[in-house]
Formats: sequence, structure tokens, C-alpha cells
Amino acid sequence: MDWIVTGASRGIGRSLALALARKSSPRDRLFVLARDEARLRSLTLEAAAQCAIEAMTFDLGRLSECERAAEALIAQDVRDATLVHNAGLWPTERALVDGFEAAYAVNALGPLVLQRPLLDQRRLRRVLVVSAGLAAKGRFDLARTPTGEDFSKLRTYCTTKLAGAIAQRHEATRHPAVDFAVIHPGVVRTDLGATSGVLGWLLQRVKRRWESPEACAERLVRVLDRQRWQPREGVAPWLFEEDEAPWPEAANRDRDAVLAAIEAQLANR
Ligand SMILES: NC(=O)c1ccc[n+]([C@@H]2O[C@H](COP(=O)([O-])OP(=O)(O)OC[C@H]3O[C@@H](n4cnc5c(N)ncnc54)[C@H](OP(=O)(O)O)[C@@H]3O)[C@@H](O)[C@H]2O)c1
Repeated sequence: MDWIVTGASRGIGRSLALALARKSSPRDRLFVLARDEARLRSLTLEAAAQCAIEAMTFDLGRLSECERAAEALIAQDVRDATLVHNAGLWPTERALVDGFEAAYAVNALGPLVLQRPLLDQRRLRRVLVVSAGLAAKGRFDLARTPTGEDFSKLRTYCTTKLAGAIAQRHEATRHPAVDFAVIHPGVVRTDLGATSGVLGWLLQRVKRRWESPEACAERLVRVLDRQRWQPREGVAPWLFEEDEAPWPEAANRDRDAVLAAIEAQLANR
């Protein structure tokens, strides 16, 4: 079986990649994606004894690179693959990449651009979207969120994770043969949202009590070990850690606005 894990250079993604490598069979292949080439190289060195692992360095906040990543995966002849969209960004300041706010690109639009050719060519069996419970606190503004005009150090992460979750729930309806799930992975001690100064120091101290990335990865592996996630074809569940939970109300409230934005942005490509 083929596995694709984005955001594998550190944090939850790195631990997940190592956990998948440990449980892999000789026929499994693991493709790990992120920007940091050195960290990916160290991951592949650590996992190489356990499975066939391939590092792919792409900036998944740039839509052209998401397209190139999909092409590279197709060139590797990935098939029957499980794609784990784990790469994520909690931005501490507004930054535009190719006209889109960076977190909107990484957390919402990029994953769709990456997966579209793979879905069209029936290369994927399952898509696990690592979202966040904080998506429930998001509020999507069709005119302002994609360009970050409503940027906030706290809200933008929530809103862009919400947009990604809504878009993937819709993708599940369009690809009923593919098993989709959207998951809040837990509250985990990683670099996510790291910032400098007093606030950064305080955050680091608070995070000491949070779960380790390894423990989170074990939970994700248990979810990945399930035969099936969807209660019915085309219906992506919202998983809160390991349990199915009702979709956050914000996902219903902002559904039309998110889909209108994303459809238009994807149609322009
Ligand atoms: N930690 C938590 O408590 C928590 C809670 C809820 C949800 N989550 C979600 O869990 C996922 C993993 O988060 P984490 O806590 O492990 O965060 P992290 O330690 O900050 O790791 C983020 C990963 O995403 C990759 N990434 C970020 N921007 C990218 C880009 N433009 N292109 C390619 N890769 C990019 C990073 O790799 P490079 O920098 O090398 O590109 C890194 O491997 C995220 O989706 C996050 O939203 C985390």
C-alpha cells in the first residue's frame, strides 16, 4: 500500500511517518512531503531500515508546487494510496503567497490542488484530513479571508482550518468511492503557532503539559488501521480524536461561502 503524509518534517507528521514506517510491510511505500529538506532527509535516514520511504520537498502553500507534487506522486505511480493532509500553519502575521493569505493556502486551498489530479486518476483510496477542534471558532468571510484582510493572530488559524474542513467534506460527496475523514488530532506539544517574546515563552511552558507528538501519532495510526471511516459513501465524518462527533455548527453556517470561494479559485487554475 502507498502512504502519503504531508507536513512530515516535524511535529505530528514526523511522528506519524515514523509510526507508519514501523508498522509497514515490505510492499508499503511512504511518501513524505514538506519544505524543510534537511529535516525530511533525517526522517528518511531514520525510517529507511523499516520501509521504502521517499522525501519530496515542496512548498504546499504555493499552488503551483501542489500541482508539481501531485505530478511527482503520479510519476512514482502511487496507487491505492492513503493521503494524510497533515501540513498546517498557524500564522503569527499576515503574509501573502501568490495572492492568497499563507494559512488559507496551506490549510485549505493547497490540499485540494494537491489531491485533485490524484483523485481524478483514481490514485487515492482514502483521504485523512488533519483539521483542528479550533475550526469551530472560525468565521469565514468570502471577500476577506482568502487574502487575509480579516487577519487575526488567533482567528485566522481557526478560519482557515474551518475552510479546509468544509471543502474536504464537500470533496467526499464528489468522490463517493474514496473514504474521507476529517479529524481533530488532539492537543499536542509541537512548534505549531510558535512565536517569540514573552508570549512565546509562556506558550512553551503551557505546552509542556500537552500530549507528545508520538502519543498523537499512535492515535492517528489506530484511526488509520480502521477498515472504514465513512458511515455512508460520500459522507465524511468529523472525528474528535478517535470518536465521531457532530460537525461544528460553523461548518454548516459557512458552507456556502467557503465553497463559493474555493470553486472560483480552483476554476481559475
Ligand atoms: N499541535 C496541536 O495541538 C494541533 C491541534 C489541532 C490540530 N493540529 C494540526 O495538526 C497538523 C500538524 O501540526 P503540528 O502541531 O505537528 O505542527 P508543526 O509542528 O508546526 O508542523 C507543521 C508541519 O507542516 C508543514 N508545513 C507548514 N507549512 C508548509 C508549507 N507551506 N508547505 C509544506 N509543508 C508545510 C511543516 O513543514 P515545513 O516547515 O518543513 O514545510 C511541518 O512539517 C496541522 O494541520 C495542525 O493544524 C495540531
